[in-house]
Order: sequence, then C-alpha cells, then structure tokens
Amino acid sequence: MARQNGFLVLNQFFSGAACRHPCRGICNSVKYAGTQGPCPCLNRRPHVCPSFFSIASLYSRRAAERPPLHKTQRKRKSLSPSPEVQKAVREFDAGQYRLYPDPDSNALRNAIAGMLGPGITPDMVFAGNGSDEVLSFIFFTLFDSDAPLHFPEYTYSFYPVYCGYYDIPFRKIPLASDFSLDCGALLEGDSSGLIFANPNAPTGIFLELPELERLLDRYPSGRPVVVDEAYIDFGGETALPLLEKYKNLVIVRTFSKSFCFAGARLGYAVADPGIIRALFTAKDSFNHFPVDRLTQEIGVAACGDPGYYKKINTEIIQTRGLFSAELEKLGWTVLPSRANFVFVRHPSLNGREVYEYIKKQGVLVRYFDSPGIAGFVRISIGTPDDMRQLLDIMKNL
Ligand SMILES: Cc1ncc(COP(=O)(O)O)c(C=O)c1O
Repeated sequence: MARQNGFLVLNQFFSGAACRHPCRGICNSVKYAGTQGPCPCLNRRPHVCPSFFSIASLYSRRAAERPPLHKTQRKRKSLSPSPEVQKAVREFDAGQYRLYPDPDSNALRNAIAGMLGPGITPDMVFAGNGSDEVLSFIFFTLFDSDAPLHFPEYTYSFYPVYCGYYDIPFRKIPLASDFSLDCGALLEGDSSGLIFANPNAPTGIFLELPELERLLDRYPSGRPVVVDEAYIDFGGETALPLLEKYKNLVIVRTFSKSFCFAGARLGYAVADPGIIRALFTAKDSFNHFPVDRLTQEIGVAACGDPGYYKKINTEIIQTRGLFSAELEKLGWTVLPSRANFVFVRHPSLNGREVYEYIKKQGVLVRYFDSPGIAGFVRISIGTPDDMRQLLDIMKNL
C-alpha cells in the first residue's frame, strides 16, 4: 500500500520545491524527495513525478485537454439542466449557507438511489464533488501497489494521473484493432484491479453487458472492477443490475454530462455497502468536504425529473446518428459511439490538421497526440443546427 504521499505532495507543491533527490526527479517519487544517498527507487516502476513542476504540469495538461466544445453550444437552452433544477436554484435560500452541508449527503443519496430504481439503496451510494473527486477516493481507497492496476491504453486520461498521485502502479492495455476493449488482454497477468469507462472515452465504444459479465466472472472476486459510466445515458446499458451478483463491482456516474450540470460538480459511486463505507472512511479521514448545500439540493431536484433528461438525451442520440451517417458519406471513419460525442477520422488528414482547420472556423474539437489515435478527432454532439453548421465546415476538408 502506498497511500502516504498526499500530504507530501501538497507540502512540496506549496513550498515550490522541486524534487531534491539525487535522481533529480527521474525516479519520479515524492517519497524520496529531499532524501540523500543512492536512489532508493532503482528497480521500481516509473510513475508521475509529483515535484512542484510536474504537479503544475499535471494541472495544465488537464486544462488543455478540456477545451470548450462548439462555440454555438455555449448558450444553448436545449442542453440546460432541467426546469426543476433551475427552480431549485431560484428558490434556494442563501441564508442556509451559514450552516455546513450534510456531510453524508443523505437526502441526495436517497434521491439518487430512488432514481436508480429497485435493488439500489442509499447505503450503496457515495456522492462527491464531481465524479473526478469520487474517482480520486476510489483510487486512494481501493487500489494498492501490490500489483498493477489495469486499464485500457485509450480511456479517460485522468486514470494515470490518479495513479501518479497515489503511487499506484498501472499497466495500459492496448485496445483491440477495432478500438473496442480487449477483455482477454485486460485479464492477462496479475492486477490489483481494473478500471475503464463504459462507454469508453474517447472512442465512444460500449462494452455490452454480457461481455462485461464474462469479464467479471473471470476476475478475482476480491479485487475491484470499476466501471466509469460517465456517458451511460447516451445509449449504453448500465451495469447496475450486476451489482447484486458482483460485490467487487463499483459503478461511477456523473451529473456533468447527461444531467447538464458540470458547473455544479456532482458525481457518485454505486457499490456494495461495504465498499461505500470504506470510501466514507477514507473521505472522513482525508478530506471531509462534502457536496455543498445548493448542489445537494439541485441534485435532488434533478433526480426527480428523469423524463426531461430522457428527452434531451434521446435528441442527442438521434443527432449523433444523423451526423455520423453524413460524415461516413463524406468518407470519414466513424467509430460506433454510445456517448455524447463521436470519434472520427478523416481519410487523409491527421487529427491535429482537422482540429486546426475547424478551429479557424470558430469551432473547437479535440485531437490527440498519442500515435495510435493521432488520426482521430473527438466531436461533441450538440443540437441538429450545431451539427449542420459543423458538417458544412467539415465538407470543405
Ligand atoms: C470518462 C469520464 N469519467 C469521469 C469524468 C469526470 O467528470 P466530472 O468530474 O465532471 O463528474 C469525465 C469527464 O470528462 C470522463 O470523461
């Protein structure tokens, strides 16, 4: 277990000190920062250097990877939080801010459990300030350094960052040739746990539940399997029903995507009550900052309006289908997406060239420098109008 690094990282970060170990940071471990003598980390795995400069670059990299998407999306009403959420915000009594929020988010966890339906009880829900924070607690609490954590080579880019923070060894498992998850390869060799997004990001490809179940059947039941369902509401099928059978399964969800309130920061994990208790223990001993009062309230309001979200997410799914078909007619490769974005490749230009051209027309998409996916761009799905405008731009490429 290697969990002791958090405070060291922060101390070093705030003091502005670079790694002073004789290996000059190449060993990349904050554990040895400031120590003298031969590098104690020879023969150790490489991991992210948490020295001042590396920490700073972790943050800036994250910012660079999250550009705003279509210019036209910024003011779009049809992708706003539900009217119930807007009403809850308007009616919120700011006087309540004099009181601390409920540390256990009880009303919110009740509402989430109620929304998720039979079989899910509030003690199976852990809420946090965005699923990024929830993931952070999961990495801190459930994964250790006894064996590498396995995750796909191309998946949510923050997983290796958490590994760096918490000193968790990891192995990136290549995707299959069609960019789907290679379950056989994920299972190969010793691992302390598995994590992947389903649908995966940035590919948008969904691992069907029977395949996920086969993977769970073949994986040791005492090790966590974390399925990040950030994009599940855009056409995937949730793994929630598998929780009853697989006590090592942890499902992570967010309100940022299909619930349209990334700005409020709300995410949650659903798992066996034993795992949820462990997450609370870690949270209470490490960072007891709960979800703030207003966000807890609007989360409850959102859970009470599933019809609204179903409608807007269905629209996104339909627009995604039309946009994908048009792009294919233009000769682009379009991976089969079940997310609110598509991952597409121009017949001859690379992702960066496509990004540069589209950006000049006032729209931002994402490209990736990694060799295996450098040909692709990831495009968020907006309104039919947004996508028509974008298609007109892309036709000229
Ligand atoms: C797969 C995946 N998981 C988790 C997150 C984090 O979402 P948030 O912290 O907004 O809940 C993202 C954000 O882009 C994501 O793509």
